[in-house]
Amino acid sequence: MEINLPKGTHDVILDEARAYDRIETVFKAAADLYGFNEMRTPVIEHTELFVRSVGDSSDIVRKEMYTFKDKGDRSITLRPELTAGIMRSIVNNKLYATQDLPLKAYYVGPAFRYERPQLGRYRQFNQFGVEAVGVTSPYSDAEVIMLGFNALKMLGFEDITLKINTLGDEASRNNYRVALKEYFAHHLEGMCEDCKVRYEVNPLRILDCKVPEDQKIVEGAPKMSNYLSPEAKDRFDAILALLDAFSVPYEIDENLVRGLDYYSHVVFEYHYTTKKGVNVGAMGAGGHYDNLISDLGGPALSGVGFACGIERVYALLKDDELLVDTKETTDFYVMPMGEEALQDGFMVGAALRAAGYRTEVCLENKNFKTMFKRAERKGSRFAIIIGDDEIKTETVTMKNMATQEQFKVAYGDLIAKADELFDLEDEEHHHHHEE
Ligand code: HAM
Repeated sequence: MEINLPKGTHDVILDEARAYDRIETVFKAAADLYGFNEMRTPVIEHTELFVRSVGDSSDIVRKEMYTFKDKGDRSITLRPELTAGIMRSIVNNKLYATQDLPLKAYYVGPAFRYERPQLGRYRQFNQFGVEAVGVTSPYSDAEVIMLGFNALKMLGFEDITLKINTLGDEASRNNYRVALKEYFAHHLEGMCEDCKVRYEVNPLRILDCKVPEDQKIVEGAPKMSNYLSPEAKDRFDAILALLDAFSVPYEIDENLVRGLDYYSHVVFEYHYTTKKGVNVGAMGAGGHYDNLISDLGGPALSGVGFACGIERVYALLKDDELLVDTKETTDFYVMPMGEEALQDGFMVGAALRAAGYRTEVCLENKNFKTMFKRAERKGSRFAIIIGDDEIKTETVTMKNMATQEQFKVAYGDLIAKADELFDLEDEEHHHHHEE
């Protein structure tokens, strides 16, 4: 009997794995461009970390965490997101005292949420994200928003929709919460069960309820913009002005409140709809936070960050045929004709690899046609044929897979010939040996 995948998980294999690798490479290049350094934190953390950061009024902590007791009776949780672990690490390692501020970290890795699986929503998924901690300037918020936007553009997306809102400072939010409670008190009876809970634990979350009848009620609710302190409003305006100055298009969405409790001031999401109309929800999201580091026992430092869902980014790129370089390629495919030729073929393969050429040697005794097909499927640039004649004369027959052109190369000249061939091709392609 076969064993199936746990619900909500998926294998990343073949072309898809190559595409993920490229997505991560582009993200890392973008983060590097802005001076961010990688941080890798554990997949398991103490449950308390997420209760204190993501927050016990969030859906994530209330019902989506993979939490278990380990054999030492400690409550452990598979991380539902990566920001909390990064903050814990900054505090534990006192990076704020030993490194220049802002601390700028990027990360890639799996996260786990017990959600109902659907298009673009998994129980194990991968995030790429950044955090900049320790500057208060709205320039820092703008920089991180632009980094995410540019990374997505570097991947090939055009027409990204940046939804943006401000949750203001704590005082603004407290006043707004009172106003919302007053308003929703009159409507609560007709609203969904989730909203009734949200009313008690975090009334702001009612604003992004997806139930159509509830949305009508939300339309009449008081607006955050009317409750912002002058400082909070100025801060938001400064960020918007920077986005304007750099022609980053955005849509202000006053109902954008985000599902994690740690945000204050600016929050944002990146959205994209494919030509076929596919929309998987936010491909990335983030915001500013003021109390994360101090709530975890560190000093009062604020920060800003975002995370993108790699599965969602992949699905959208694929749907719009924006995936590039995902086909398998190799430089040489060595085709020994018969047992005796394998010995020489094995040696030729080793020599080419030692010189940095991606080379596969057919190790089984296969006929020419079969090996040639394999060379094609491997995306080989050249086939190297070694038969009885070749062994005798210590030469190989090389075949350019694209042009079918064939020529002989002496064993001793192989590497020089390979260098010459790939130098020539490099004038059009940028080949990996030269990078
Ligand atoms: P989030 O909005 O919960 O924020 O997740 C960020 C992104 O992860 C989403 O926009 C989505 O692309 C992806 N994602 C979330 N859940 C799933 C899922 N079940 N399946 C597939 N993809 C998913 C955060 O996680 C924050 N830590 C972002 C942040 C960083 N804020 C400040 N710094």
